[in-house]
Amino acid sequence: MSAERVPRGIDPTRAHPARRYNYWLGGKDNFAVDRESAEILASAFPTIRLSALENRRFLQRAVRYLAAEAGIRQFLDIGAGLPSAGNVHEIAQGVAPESRVVYVDNDPIVLVHARALLNSSPEGATAYVDADLREPEKILGAPELAETLDLSRPTALILVATMHFITEEEDAYGLLGRLREVLAPGSHIVMTHATLDYLSPERGAEVTEADKKSGVTFQMRTTREFARFFEGLDLVEPGITSVVDWRPDVPPEQRPAVEDVSMLCAVARVP
Ligand SMILES: C[S@@+](CC[C@H](N)C(=O)[O-])C[C@H]1O[C@@H](n2cnc3c(N)ncnc32)[C@H](O)[C@@H]1O
Repeated sequence: MSAERVPRGIDPTRAHPARRYNYWLGGKDNFAVDRESAEILASAFPTIRLSALENRRFLQRAVRYLAAEAGIRQFLDIGAGLPSAGNVHEIAQGVAPESRVVYVDNDPIVLVHARALLNSSPEGATAYVDADLREPEKILGAPELAETLDLSRPTALILVATMHFITEEEDAYGLLGRLREVLAPGSHIVMTHATLDYLSPERGAEVTEADKKSGVTFQMRTTREFARFFEGLDLVEPGITSVVDWRPDVPPEQRPAVEDVSMLCAVARVP
């Protein structure tokens, strides 16, 4: 995207997670500052594009599992990102056309492109809420949410590659706890999260240094810290794994190395 044709409300001078991720996925909705930030990280972690693609593939397998095997028909996707191939409603409605999806993101560029997320099947529904994960009351109180989802019925809360933008000071665990409170029994939480656990301490230090220089606040978590998000929930098999190893649809020899992706995931059921 050229900086001369910047839609109102969009800051082309600061790197944004949605636009940087769009660059890694091969999209065009990003600015020079996002590409610079992306390349700083890629210099310390050269397989970052692969990591973004594998994260996205996990999201699609998880949504397919929820729709086809867990019987979920409602999805609340926070940190939805820019429209890409295989959006949540397309996967879910491909299995069950009556599926209903609410997308949430805090980035104005996602709002600009949200229409592409709203092309629901006639039997189902999609909606978009412009809100921040750090303001759960705004998300839960949004009229679009009440019009689209019935939270007294099982719902999948999706936080894929989103929680690592929330620091401990911003109370990541408390925010998830607030959202979890409103989920009916039988609901599911789907999460992925970047980690340094698969890297040597030296490589981990290089990635941390690059993160600090990249202009985007980022909070890596260990597997143990990630597991805290799921206390009191029932982890769906195979539990907490690398995104590449969660119900994979290709044989082991075709899967990337976990250290090249460095992304944890889990799907858990609310008892
Ligand atoms: C790496 S992208 C992931 C997109 C999508 N979930 C996926 O996995 O393909 C992270 C998204 O989270 C959004 N995000 C980051 N912090 C957020 C916050 N505090 N509230 C809402 N969205 C946030 C970003 O704008 C971006 O679209």
